[in-house]
Parts: sequence; C-alpha cells; structure tokens
Amino acid sequence: MDTPAPSRRLWIETVGCQMNVLDSELVVAALRRQGWSLAAGPAEADAVFYNTCSVRQHAEDKVWSALGRVRIEKQKRPGMIVGVLGCMAQKDQEIVRERAPWVDLVVGPGQLHRVPGIVEEILAGGAPRIEVSLDRTAGSRDAVTRSFESYDPDRDPAMRPTPFQAFVRTQTGCDKFCAFCVVPRVRGPEQARPPAAILAEARKLVDEGCREITLIGQTVNSYKWTDGGRTTRLADLLHDLDAIDGLERVRFVTNYPRDMTPELIGAVRDLPTVCQYLHVPAQHGSDAVLARMKRGYTIGEYLEMHARVREELPAASVTSDFIVGFCGETDAEFQTTVDLVERLRFKNSFIFKYSPRPGTKAFERQPDDVPEEVKKERHHVLLDAQTRASLAGNLPFVGTRQRVLVEGLSTRDEKRGVDPGPEGFAQLTGRTTCDRIVVFDAPLRLVGRMVDVTIDAAGAWSLAGTVADGLADAVPLDWLEAKLAAQPPAPSLHQIAPPRRDG
Ligand code: SAH
Ligand code: F3S
Repeated sequence: MDTPAPSRRLWIETVGCQMNVLDSELVVAALRRQGWSLAAGPAEADAVFYNTCSVRQHAEDKVWSALGRVRIEKQKRPGMIVGVLGCMAQKDQEIVRERAPWVDLVVGPGQLHRVPGIVEEILAGGAPRIEVSLDRTAGSRDAVTRSFESYDPDRDPAMRPTPFQAFVRTQTGCDKFCAFCVVPRVRGPEQARPPAAILAEARKLVDEGCREITLIGQTVNSYKWTDGGRTTRLADLLHDLDAIDGLERVRFVTNYPRDMTPELIGAVRDLPTVCQYLHVPAQHGSDAVLARMKRGYTIGEYLEMHARVREELPAASVTSDFIVGFCGETDAEFQTTVDLVERLRFKNSFIFKYSPRPGTKAFERQPDDVPEEVKKERHHVLLDAQTRASLAGNLPFVGTRQRVLVEGLSTRDEKRGVDPGPEGFAQLTGRTTCDRIVVFDAPLRLVGRMVDVTIDAAGAWSLAGTVADGLADAVPLDWLEAKLAAQPPAPSLHQIAPPRRDG
C-alpha cells in the first residue's frame, strides 16, 4: 500500500512472552508505514488490538476482561476496529467470534503479515475476518508448516521497548510437545530462520544504534539450519554475531536442557559479547513428574548439564521456570523441586501454578487433581526457597565492580513520576552481563550506555550501587534527547523498561 491512509490512531496491548512483544512491534511498525500513529489509550484509538497468550488461563482471562471493556467503547464509537491477535486467536478462533461478536479481526501468530491488508478491507466496509494457520492435526507436516508463515518485515526503532535493545527471532514454533504446553499447537512446527536473515537483521539493528540483542526462540538452543551440506547451530550464530562491530551484548532465550551442548557453552565462555546468562527451565525436580510432563530428560541429566555450566562458566547465572501442582504431584514430589532450588541456587525462577490447557496431552490424559489451595501453598513455599537462594547468590556481589547497561528509570522513580531532565539525578536501573538488576543514582543522560557500578548492597531481586567511572562528559544519546524534548505528552520512560514475563 503506497498511499498512506489519513492519520488514524491505534492502541495495542500485549500479553505473554518476548515473541509477542516482538510480534506487536512488527505489527505496529507495518501499520505505521500505512499512516497509523499510536494513541495515548484505547479511548482515543480508531483501532484496538490485543496480542494474546494462551500459556495459562490467567493470561486468557486478562484478554476476556479487556474485550468486555472495549465493547463499551465500541458501543459509543461503532466505527472502531477491535482485533484479537496471537495465540488465543489461533487456539480459540470461533470462541472469540461467538463470545465477542464485536471483534472485527482474529489473526493467529502465523498470519500476522495479513493484519495491515485486513484492516484496510474492514475500513472499506469489509466483513469481520478470521485468519489463522492450520491446526497441527489438520494436514501433513509440510502443509501445517507452510500455514505458519514467517513474519520478518522491516524493524521500526521507535516501536521497541528501548532503542538500544532488540529481540531477534531465530526460529518460530516448537516440536517438543511437553504434556502441559499449548505452544506447539498455537505457534506451529519449529521452523528456523536462515542464518543470513538473522545476521542481516542484527547488523541493521546495530546500525540503528542497538547495543544489545536478545535472540528468541521457544527452544533457542535447538536452532539448526542446514544448507548445501553445512549445518549452522546457535553456537555458530553467536560466533557470527560476536564479529559485528558495535554490538556489545548478545543474550538468548529460552534454552532446552538437552540441547545445552559443549559447543554452546564454549561459545558463551569464549565470546566477549555473549552474556553470562542462561535461562534453562528445569520445570520440576522429580523424574516421575518430568516423565509425566514428557520433558525428555531426567534430573540426573539436568544436574550433569548444570555441573558443566558451573565448571566452564563460573560467573554465569542460571535461571529456571517451574510448574507447581502438575497432575498427580504428591507432597514428596513437590519437595524434590524445593530441594533442587536449594541445591542449584538459580539466580531466579519463574514459578507457575499448573493451568490445564485444552489441546495438550496432559489435558486429555491426566486429571488436574491438585486442589487450587495446594497449588497456591506450593507456589508460596517454592517462591520462599527461591527468594532465599536469590539473596544468597546476590550477597557476594557487594563490594565488586559490575559493568551495567543502563536501561532507564528504576521502578521506584518510574512510579513516583520523577522527571529529572537529562542532567538531573534520578534512580536508574541497568543490568549486568549475568542479568542482575542494579539500581543507582545517576543522571538520566547515562541511559543507553555501559557504565561501571560499585555494588554497595544486595537484595533478593536487585543490587544497589554507585557509578564508579567518571562519565561527566557523556552527552545524552540523540533518541533520549528527542524523547525528553517531545511535547506533549512525552512518552513514559516506562516504555524503556524491559518487558517481564507475563500471564
Ligand atoms: N519455551 C518457552 C516456554 C513457553 S511457556 C519459552 O520461551 O519460555 C513458559 C513457561 O510457562 C514454561 O517454561 C512453563 O514453566 C510455563 N507453562 C507452560 N505451560 C503451562 C501450563 N499449562 N501451566 C502452567 N505453566 C505453564
Ligand atoms: Fe512448551 Fe516444552 Fe516447547 S514448554 S514451548 S512444548 S519446549
């Protein structure tokens, strides 16, 4: 579409993982190229989109409530477009249209490139539309794979959570089929992107001022691309990324324990840009539960992998995800997870109460028999154990000097609405290579830069410190000046905080 539509405003809410954050960036970027701009809220928007997550019921409930609220807005302004995008669109296409007939477009994660065209058609009076990929059982693997189309349009720096950090997709979908997980169904078969496309995108991002890239895939370390007899794996990508001038940090999430190869660990050890941070979800501490979860490894194998990481990467942090209250989990089985957290002292863990998902093996074959109160209690007990482990892991940092990429205002000053201007001091937040959050008082002009911070104090979830090096002559980066000069309303600096896991 070459002729931009008259300026219309859109609002998008994103639930869920980094994949969704990236998908939202890409959809908004495509619509901006068609003349759309961002609204300050749903009440001022001509189109409202929800980019949804199906991983747990809680994430879906959030979208249902938002759809209830937007219905009232649409009654006032019937011309407004409402869209449900992403995983719920794929999983519950018909249910969404039945329960929320005021929704105009329902578009799955494998069809997002169609959003701009569909929006044009609806504006021109077209009927509501559902565009989703094939269900995983609805055709041959090839046909299903083809129906999850790749979506790699040009990036739009203005749409990223921060201009100096970006996600880059290495692959879509997942073929692991853990018994509890809906992702393989809603995101489709695993498909790697060609290495050349990944590297070209990374170079372009760095040219635009990006300093940190996070590679994302459901099991990013299973990445494999074969072409002309040559196989490229994640470790090879890391070598090529490390050679890009101006790129300071590379992270990658999420790792599958069995694919943590010696080559990959070696790349993290040897390549200066690769961060000392590995998110490798264990999910549970008991072999019996891991088997019921169909995770494909034993605790012995996980421990062996962890020991190799510790030996080769003594400074790296390891983090995990855990599910409590999975089908049939006994007190003794749950205790093995607590023991694992105490033994391995993860830097942090995301802890989830099991949520049965229609379309998964566990939903079909294993009863959700752990009562909600027991799940809550186990969540509480495990979080307590993790909090103690996190604090113990953070205390040795006191007195050390850490290199930090400054990300923006701390949550405290963000909540207080502090507006110091580029020269004034505020409490800022940044991250170490091992993904530890560090807060410190410094001028806002340091945002987007690497600084050395001496750590003075440690809590379970963050460190506090003092800027160690003299950056007195550092001038604010152009984008920060533009952001601070924007009148009115200056976009909230909250938008430059990294997204956290949701749902
Ligand atoms: N590989 C993905 C995993 C997606 S789901 C990634 O990139 O992180 C994220 C986490 O949600 C999983 O690791 C698991 O701990 C949790 N999870 C998945 N399905 C769940 C369910 N049905 N109930 C509760 N937690 C679940
Ligand atoms: Fe889900 Fe297991 Fe894949 S948790 S995303 S099916 S590795």
